[in-house]
Amino acid sequence: MITIISGTNRKNSVSKKIAHIYQSILQDKGQKAEVIYLEDLPADFVTTALYENSGKNELFNPFRELIMQSQKMIFVVPEYNGSFPGVLKAFIDGMQYPHAFRDKKAALVGLSSGVQGAGLALSHLTDIFNYCGMHVLAQKPKLARIEDNLSENKLSKLYHSLLEEQVEKLLIF
Ligand SMILES: Cc1cc2nc3c(=O)[nH]c(=O)nc-3n(C[C@H](O)[C@H](O)[C@H](O)COP(=O)(O)O)c2cc1C
Repeated sequence: MITIISGTNRKNSVSKKIAHIYQSILQDKGQKAEVIYLEDLPADFVTTALYENSGKNELFNPFRELIMQSQKMIFVVPEYNGSFPGVLKAFIDGMQYPHAFRDKKAALVGLSSGVQGAGLALSHLTDIFNYCGMHVLAQKPKLARIEDNLSENKLSKLYHSLLEEQVEKLLIF
């Protein structure tokens, strides 16, 4: 099972749009994928679903279950203060260790308003997932200057082709 994670809980996020586009690229290639939007997480999950409360939040548990069932994951990651959003780290910290990620495979997509395309954020996240035993696909599109490359819900031709190339690689990864 493949799951796409839209990596911010910001409402009306660009990440959500990219996650949709990614899902339709997968669908065009005959691959179904679920999408997790971090904005759908219970607002209090940091205080009710982590550490000593792990497994106790019934609204958070379905997200843990979905990640447990996923063999491949795609993380759509916006650049926040030179890294990835804190809510994404809290989400990762709320998953079952070590089986949520160990021996699984991930693909990362970065996006930013600035010129980095979340390159550093993707490196930070790669370190974390490697620590957890998850293999990360080497090809990591960095969608810099995203506002100039996304109109309505359509990516520029170049950025769309970068995602298509990554999907091809992920399917045989
Ligand atoms: C809290 C926060 C921090 C940000 N930090 C950066 C940054 O360090 N570099 C950058 O290029 N853009 C930064 N941005 C802009 C986002 O990368 C850009 O708006 C992106 O489209 C946001 O994705 P989202 O719509 O999925 O939240 C930041 C945005 C937010 C909300």
